[in-house]
Amino acid sequence: MSAPTPSATAFAPASASNVGPGFDILGFAVDGLGDRVTATRRDQPGVEIAEITGDGGRLPTDAAENTAGVAALELLQRAGVTKRGVQLHVAKGMSLGSGLGSSAASAVAAVVAVDAVLELRSDRATLLACALEGERLASGAIHADNVSPCLYGGFVLVRSNLPPDIVPLLVPPGLACAVVRPHVEVSTRIARQALPREITVERAVRQAANLGALVAALGSGDLELLRRALEDRIAEPRRTHLVPGFGAMKNAALAFGAIGCTLSGSGPSTLALAPSLEDAERIADAMVASLGDVGSDRLVSSVGARGARVVDDLSPD
Ligand code: HSE
Repeated sequence: MSAPTPSATAFAPASASNVGPGFDILGFAVDGLGDRVTATRRDQPGVEIAEITGDGGRLPTDAAENTAGVAALELLQRAGVTKRGVQLHVAKGMSLGSGLGSSAASAVAAVVAVDAVLELRSDRATLLACALEGERLASGAIHADNVSPCLYGGFVLVRSNLPPDIVPLLVPPGLACAVVRPHVEVSTRIARQALPREITVERAVRQAANLGALVAALGSGDLELLRRALEDRIAEPRRTHLVPGFGAMKNAALAFGAIGCTLSGSGPSTLALAPSLEDAERIADAMVASLGDVGSDRLVSSVGARGARVVDDLSPD
């Protein structure tokens, strides 16, 4: 009997990005959602995507057109792997265009699985740079605010995309989030087109002040400062019209004790921070109720979950 063809499966979590004033700079991993990619070694060079599940048949299986495929191809190229390749099975565990780093999760799970099955032992900066190629394909821009927390876990600040300079941030004990996704899709590419081309110095200064205050608040656990700092003066004002019920969700979240409420990434998922998981549960319920007839789903998680990892094929995440 011949030996089974080696394969490895990786899980990569969903992530919330921007987080108020941290447009393209802040992100954290969340529990409970993510993508799995299984990579199987094959003798032919390149990347073949054999199957994608959980996407309703919408994602391309041409590796050059798929975030997981592009990231895997970049890793093979950087590692100088020319004589063999991989076959990928991609299992989407989250909705497309949700604002929770769906394209990042596929790209990160792909590079972690390919690295493992080919025993490349790439460093994390290399894996990150490869996964960023998936983001470039998905949104037309390089931004590591989903890819880096997805890969590293925790709550991170992206000081530089390339070369990656990713700064892990402290998280106050118990900090939790409620994420509610109205059932609409927002393309990151389109949401980026809605951004202002230029901003005033006053606006840039205000955003920088809030960002600095937010990082300080995370480090010190000053939740009142965190509340004041959770304000986005650049992206959110240009994007909330894409998200039905955003204003109602934000009002409901604040009325039920949220520290702050903002878009998750480019939306439509809307993110409220809370002092505890119990508070986050109540806040999520209130946000869902505020949407009335608009269908939605919700997620409650601690802030700064584990990052991507190789998993047993049969494990639940
Ligand atoms: N920082 C990115 C944006 C995240 O807001 O466009 C996309 O999910």
